[in-house]
Order: sequence, then structure tokens, then C-alpha cells
Amino acid sequence: MTVRSTLETQPMQPTSGDAPSGQTVSTADSAAAAAGNLLPHDVTDLGLADEGVRRIEWAEREMPVLRLIRERFEKEQPLKGLRIGACLHVTTETANLMRTLKAGGAEVVLCASNPLSTKDDVAAALVVRYGISTYARRGEDRDTYYAHLNAVADTHPQLTMDDGCDLVSLLHAERPGQLHEILAGTEETTTGVIRLKAMAADGALTFPVVAVNEAMTKHLFDNRYGTGQSTVDGILRATNLLLAGRNVVIAGYGWVGRGIASRMKGMGAHVAITEVQPLPAIEALMDGFMVKTGLEAAEWGDLFVTATGNLNVFRREHFERMHDGATMANSGHFDDEIDLKALREMAEGHVREVRRDVEEYDIGGVRLNVIAEGRLVNLAAAEGHPAAVMDMSFANQALSAEHVAKNHASLTAQVYVVPAEIDQEVARLKLVALGVQIDTMTEEQKAYVTSWHSGT
Ligand SMILES: NC(=O)c1ccc[n+]([C@@H]2O[C@H](COP(=O)([O-])OP(=O)(O)OC[C@H]3O[C@@H](n4cnc5c(N)ncnc54)[C@H](O)[C@@H]3O)[C@@H](O)[C@H]2O)c1
Repeated sequence: MTVRSTLETQPMQPTSGDAPSGQTVSTADSAAAAAGNLLPHDVTDLGLADEGVRRIEWAEREMPVLRLIRERFEKEQPLKGLRIGACLHVTTETANLMRTLKAGGAEVVLCASNPLSTKDDVAAALVVRYGISTYARRGEDRDTYYAHLNAVADTHPQLTMDDGCDLVSLLHAERPGQLHEILAGTEETTTGVIRLKAMAADGALTFPVVAVNEAMTKHLFDNRYGTGQSTVDGILRATNLLLAGRNVVIAGYGWVGRGIASRMKGMGAHVAITEVQPLPAIEALMDGFMVKTGLEAAEWGDLFVTATGNLNVFRREHFERMHDGATMANSGHFDDEIDLKALREMAEGHVREVRRDVEEYDIGGVRLNVIAEGRLVNLAAAEGHPAAVMDMSFANQALSAEHVAKNHASLTAQVYVVPAEIDQEVARLKLVALGVQIDTMTEEQKAYVTSWHSGT
């Protein structure tokens, strides 16, 4: 492989198996790939690897917990010989997770969990610098998306790592013959966990899966603060709208919706929530937000953001009430929260790209904008969650992979929560990394909180 030494950033400690630190790649690597010197892959442009390495190293500085885990994994090799098939957003943070798994001794193959969230430079760097088979091209069509999933399945993974359950569901639906090879899996997001629980309830799931999303150190920080901030980031990068004074509607007041709502409020927007469950609706009210029905909100809102994990949340009856210039974005996992089929029909061909990542649908003189084709806006129009947040989510992934590698024999085919010890350990390591200390209970206090004798 041809290399040049032009990296300006301070080289990091190479993970075992990484190409030597401080080296960069040239387009000649495409030739190297063609000559068979790189592991199998399908990425947009290997020549982007230099930029990818720089950005992966930048993210790594914000991921101290994952780095501590990687250093331990290098010594202890808890994943030695394990084939891991991963279907995740191909971002700088994911690259650092892949390096950690590889450092732990695993053979890792990665494909994208969304056609629009792939960072092409990261995909190139993973192949060229970090020696990880990667199948991901930003903007890939549906056939390519599934070809990439199948390429991962072809490697006969023993452990799956999913974000949205597409790999697990493909293996169950189309490759039942290889299910017995799979020891266990992990799942990153709410939507994937819902799908897995439905599979388990149907008796369809054939191996245990740890729901990483259920860890407090995942959803409390990732779904709320990570998605909250990066959703605002994606909307601003795509539109450059002024949020102050604007009427913003958030559909869904779960972990993600709460994060987006509080960030929007912080930017000076008027925020209304739509919900289908009474509890989160009351919570939204008491947090100081308006609560409206979708139809009421449709007339009121300037900007609409979905975060429900549900289908057709904004649809024809809402589009009919929206005003000229209203803008919609989705931050839920799938691109079906905004009914684009209905919108396209209503626009009768009057659809045009008005900015990068913004399409305008003209429905009889009322122009409605949709950001990033209704795909998760924080990843499609921005860079996804900040690395400091993904540090904890992916620390959970790495430790959950270690947990199932050790304990799969005693687990059955169901959806497991992340063991409390892992959650606590991730929180502890994050505090250590931040240099923050907390108190410990005195012996007297320990006795007090565990005794039933003391009372009024
Ligand atoms: N963009 C990202 O990076 C990112 C990160 C984490 C999670 N997610 C995804 O975001 C979605 C929400 O995740 P969460 O953790 O907040 O889930 P959650 O279950 O905590 O919250 C979802 C909320 O939406 C409400 N809801 C459901 N249908 C609705 C409807 N038709 N109208 C209004 N509200 C409705 C539910 O009552 C619930 O309160 C999921 O699809 C999840 O996978 C995306």
C-alpha cells in the first residue's frame, strides 16, 4: 500500500492491527484494493481515507471511556477469534468502536444501518487504515443497502451488532440456515429493541440480544442530549433557519423528543408537543411546553420534527393544514414518520431541491419543505451525536459484546437489558475521564439504607 506521511494531527497510539500511526493514504490505495491488498469492501472513494483518519482521531479525543476499554481489550483479548457482523451508522464514533472490538481480538465486518448516514471518508479510513471490511456508500440505493447487509451476513457472524435490527431480521427472514452459528447480538436503538421484543414475543428470535439502548448510560445521554443537540444541528445546517421566536412542533415526548424540545426552547423557539400517551403528555406540560393534537399543531407550526418511532405521524390531513414555508424533519429511526408518498402525490410533480438536503413540495401554491428525505436529520444533515455522548453508548456496546462473548451459553433467546454492573462501570469510567469525584457512603449510611429497623 502506498503511504505518505502528511498527517498534521498528533498521532494516536495505534490499535493492534491498525496501519502505522501518522501515515496517510493516497489514491493509489484504490489500486492496492484492486490488487487485493485490502480486505473485501465497498465504499465510495478510498482516496478519502486521509480525511477520515483525521476525523476519527478527533472523535477519539472525546471518547476516553472507549479508549480505556480498548487498552484493556488489547491486553485481555476477550473477543479473540469471534466474528462480529455490525450494521451501524458509519460515523467517526462507530469507527472507534470498530477499532475497540478489533483490539479485543474480534474479526469485524461493518455495513451501514442507514443509506444516508454514512460518512464516506470514515468508510474509506476503516478499510485502508484500520483494516476493517466495510460496506457503506452515502446515498446508496435500497438494492445496494441490502447487498451490503448480505455481504456482512456472508461472513457468517457469530455476534451481531445492530442499529435498528435490520441485520438480525435479514438473518431470520432470509438465512435461517446460519442462525445456529450466532451466539448472541446487541442492539443500539429504541426502534430495534421494539422489533426484537416483537420477534421474541412471536417466538421467532433464535439467539439472545442485549438491548444496549436500555442502559441508562445510553438512552439518558445519547437519545436525550446527543439527539437533542445533533437534531438542532442538522436542521440548522440544512436550512440556516432562525429558531428564536419560531413555532416548533415536536411529535413524541420520549427520550429523543424531550432532548430536542429542551434544546429548541433553549434557542428561543416556542415549542408544542404532540403525543399519543397521557403520561409523557403531562410531563411535557409540566416541563413548560404546549401540548396539541397533530391537527392543531399542523396549523400552528413553522417547523415540525418527528421523534416517535411510529408511522405516518404527519400525513395528508396535516399537510393540508400547514402554511406556506413550513419545514419538516424526522429524527426517529426510519424514514416513515413523515408520509412522503402522500406528500408526493399532493405535489403532483412539483418537487424540487431548494438547498442541499432540503426538498420543496409545492401543493397548490403552499410550499412545504422536507429535510434529508425524512431520514434521521441529525445523521443525514449533520454528523450525528457528539463523540462525547457516543463514548458512553459505545462503551456499553463494547462491554455488552464482552458480556455475551463470556456468558452466551447461559443466556436464552430473548431480549436482555444491559447488566447493571456495566451501566455503573460506564458511568464510573466517564467520571474518572472527566476528573470528577463523587462521595462514598459512610458505614453508618450503608447500614441505614439497607436496614428495615430504622423508621420515624
Ligand atoms: N436520530 C437519532 O440519532 C436517534 C437516537 C436515538 C433514538 N432514535 C430513534 O428515535 C425514536 C424515538 O426514540 P425514543 O428513545 O425517544 O423512544 P420513546 O419510546 O422513549 O419515545 C417515543 C414517544 O413517541 C410517542 N409517540 C408514538 N407514536 C406517536 C404519534 N403518532 N404521535 C405522537 N407521539 C407518538 C410515544 O408515546 C413515546 O412517548 C426511535 O425511532 C429511536 O430508534 C433516533
